[in-house]
Amino acid sequence: MNKVTAAITGVHGWVPPYILDNKELETMVDTTDEWISTRTGIKERRILKGEGQGTSVMAAEAVKGLLEKTGVKPDEIDGVIVATSTPDMLFPSTANLVCDKIGIKNAYSFDMAAACSGFLYAIEVGANFIRSGGSKKVIVIGADKMSSVMDYTDRATCILFGDGAGAVLLEPNTEGYGLQDAILKSDGEGKDLLRVKGHGSIEPVTPEKLMKKDHFFYQEGKAVFRFAVTRMADAAAEIMERNNLKGDDIAYLVPHQANKRIIEATANRMGIGMDKVTMNIERYGNTTGATIPLCLWEWEKDFKKGDNLVMAAFGGGFTWGATYLTWAY
Ligand code: COA
Repeated sequence: MNKVTAAITGVHGWVPPYILDNKELETMVDTTDEWISTRTGIKERRILKGEGQGTSVMAAEAVKGLLEKTGVKPDEIDGVIVATSTPDMLFPSTANLVCDKIGIKNAYSFDMAAACSGFLYAIEVGANFIRSGGSKKVIVIGADKMSSVMDYTDRATCILFGDGAGAVLLEPNTEGYGLQDAILKSDGEGKDLLRVKGHGSIEPVTPEKLMKKDHFFYQEGKAVFRFAVTRMADAAAEIMERNNLKGDDIAYLVPHQANKRIIEATANRMGIGMDKVTMNIERYGNTTGATIPLCLWEWEKDFKKGDNLVMAAFGGGFTWGATYLTWAY
């Protein structure tokens, strides 16, 4: 029998309708469209508005679309994994809540936290459920409501992030398509440079703690940039090297969308032109776990069966990595 690989057989995304553009940010903090555009490449981002609307709302919309377009029924799903740093609540998991919204009753479901690298970690875990033979249909979601942890008086961070969700269906493949190799790394040296400290067991929320703003996203941008730009490019280059891939062999780089300059440096290191890079940071900003599946969704029409794709990410922790896959349809 042929070896079983795990392949993406469908992808769908969802972003909220509200657009927060750079012009509106100019009225909120001391910034300019010019500064944001040249430093980051971001022009606008989506924000999930409304009481009681959490990450699971967006994830469920992405899954609804995914099931519709693949013709898969909720009771056929074996597992649901959500990569998120902004879960609806500490528990139950956002994955549990998504299953409830969709009517998925026969599946295991859990969240994974690896910040902006979360989707790469989650898809590898999902793929291993398929490779083991234990699962036939696994949904892997990247979803974040970053607006829920933004301090909209901090110009250095609030301009960077947006909300969104993307979901892929993983199924077994016996023709060799799908996920081929992954490099996943982490190093806790970044713990003080990029974090949301105030929602966890170290800093249980009290009125005094709220005043310290520890429940908001915190980043030392310049320091993080230096790590991100080298490690994301290193991982992408390493996965190409160990799979004997040259720039010409790559159809697309699908990078995490944190900063246009980091993406350009990664493409440059891989020896590929920007025409082979999926980039929607201009419209969505950094949606953390959702950036890569949102790119897969928007470029799905351009991918051809057999295309070599490299996905690469860097995020809080630090965590980073690269995944090599061949497109299956
Ligand atoms: N508008 C105008 N000026 C701003 C600003 C804004 N929104 N935000 C910061 N500035 C100012 C700073 O105060 C600073 O002013 P100073 O020189 O008078 O002190 C100046 O612009 C430069 O700030 P700096 O932080 O050095 O800018 P930068 O070129 O490093 O860009 C980031 C900032 C955040 C865009 C960039 O560092 C970055 O992308 N970092 C990595 C993000 C990342 O990959 N994260 C991991 C995944 S989530």
